[in-house]
Amino acid sequence: MNVLGIETSCDETAAAVVVDGVEVKSNVVSSQIDKHAAFGGVVPELAAREHLNNISVVVETALSESGLTISDIDAVAATCRPGLVPALLVGLSYAKGLAAAGSLPLVGVNHFVGHIYSCFLQDPDLLTREDLYPLVALVVSGGHTSIISISAEGETEILGQTIDDAAGEAFDKAAKILDLGYPGGPVIDRLAKAGDPAAIDFPRSLTGGNGKPVSAENRFNFSFSGVKTALLYAVRDKQLSDQEIKDVVASYQAAIVDVLAAKTFAAAAALNAGSVLVCGGVACNSALRTVVTYRAEKEKRRLVIAPAKYCTDNAVMIAGTGYHMYAAGMIEGLETPAKARLGDTLGCLPFTPLAGV
Ligand code: KG4
Ligand code: ZN
Repeated sequence: MNVLGIETSCDETAAAVVVDGVEVKSNVVSSQIDKHAAFGGVVPELAAREHLNNISVVVETALSESGLTISDIDAVAATCRPGLVPALLVGLSYAKGLAAAGSLPLVGVNHFVGHIYSCFLQDPDLLTREDLYPLVALVVSGGHTSIISISAEGETEILGQTIDDAAGEAFDKAAKILDLGYPGGPVIDRLAKAGDPAAIDFPRSLTGGNGKPVSAENRFNFSFSGVKTALLYAVRDKQLSDQEIKDVVASYQAAIVDVLAAKTFAAAAALNAGSVLVCGGVACNSALRTVVTYRAEKEKRRLVIAPAKYCTDNAVMIAGTGYHMYAAGMIEGLETPAKARLGDTLGCLPFTPLAGV
């Protein structure tokens, strides 16, 4: 089954053609980073206007690179939540137009679920592996920082999430404070390689590591506003040398990565999870990849990290998830609304080995 995926939830206009959820025929991502860089973050209306300018050419390029035409497409999948509503509406409306014109099914995909699905794109055999479950997934991006449990039947529970900034947002805001450009994650990752992660002892919030006990409710929740404020105080009114900036960002990155890894593996231990998934834009972070790899080996849990090219926003994960949703009958068709929020539950995932059993 050939699925055309469309993604416009934030600042990437993306389209992809994926066969049967796993065979990637094309993957086109047009980034608007340059347009938002001057603002140090994504401006929703600007994002929507840029999606409108780009969407036709991005979809046409995805089709032509796949070697297929719209008449070969069996379903259209588009991100419908969560995200910036003006941005979501561009891709979702475009997808609805294509679906209506071609009498094709339209599948509205949850972007967050798409990020989880991206973990299976490197090795699709994992989709049938019952022994991976129950698993714990860390979804860590510019919009989300959440720990989810997933059963082999696809049942999900959000175990914890950030109570303020997402980890990606914490990287982006730090880069803004230090005038390093946008998005902050990749540049901090690069500079931190030449810095000392022990130079500044930044707070590890909601871990109990700072002497304050963690309430049961916040056991798997995150908070990154404190470390961001600590960074602001550490650099305010100072002329830092290049090496000092590298030390600051290495220490800051270490504080964020430590907390992400500690909470994820604590959740995995609490659930006796067979495996840990890590996905979303911040899963590109080299320090995070190193730390979770070390922890997984030490604690003998299988680690599945999304391939770097599918960590940041893309439409392959949307087309892939859409394929499984279509197969499971999870479609709202042309009635699909666009929604800003994730919602309190993710519901059942359609791509686990016992989904629908
Ligand atoms: O998943 P994504 O493309 O968009 C959202 O769904 O939010 O994630 C974008 C986020 C940005 O905050 C960016 O700074 C962060 O991912 N990011 C990184 C790295 N690459 C991207 N953060 C840390 N290290 C990286 N190498
Ligand atoms: Zn994303």
